Amino acid sequence: MADPRPVDITPYELLGGAETVKRIVDRFYDLMDEDPAFVRLRAMHADDLTPMRASLTGFLIGWSGGPRSWFEQNPGRCMMSAHAKLAIDEETAAQWRRAMARAIAECSIDETLAERLNEVFARMAGAMVRH
Ligand code: HEM
Repeated sequence: MADPRPVDITPYELLGGAETVKRIVDRFYDLMDEDPAFVRLRAMHADDLTPMRASLTGFLIGWSGGPRSWFEQNPGRCMMSAHAKLAIDEETAAQWRRAMARAIAECSIDETLAERLNEVFARMAGAMVRH
């Protein structure tokens, strides 16, 4: 029987492309920078968040199925290994998750996609906690 699911549409396309990814990432770092709820997460980052805005945007564009320039510029870079040197505890991982969930919610993307993204990010953030 034919599979009725549209398998050729990437999350990147569902999101609305690079422009939406950039809006989510900018909101994520704005929240991290401004809201005391994310103070411990903010403290782990360098003063200047500009390079992080570019890097997370590029990573998420390629990761979600869009152009892969970030992966071509960072061959072999693995996010889990990149975070292994950081002292990430349950609270900082929760702050990352919450900031990202709020950024996604504020960018009015498709509700089902938002839920799926939050689930995947929660799993990734959880796996980065150093025990
Ligand atoms: C678990 C909670 C997390 C914390 C506390 C955290 C914290 C950080 C910090 C402090 C940096 C800067 C590292 C440095 O200056 O060397 C960083 C980099 C980065 N993080 Fe996270 N992160 C978390 C989860 C995630 C997740 C889930 C993703 C992906 C979905 C992600 C994507 C990135 C990217 C793309 C970079 C830049 C890497 C690079 O350009 O080398 N992070 N993170």
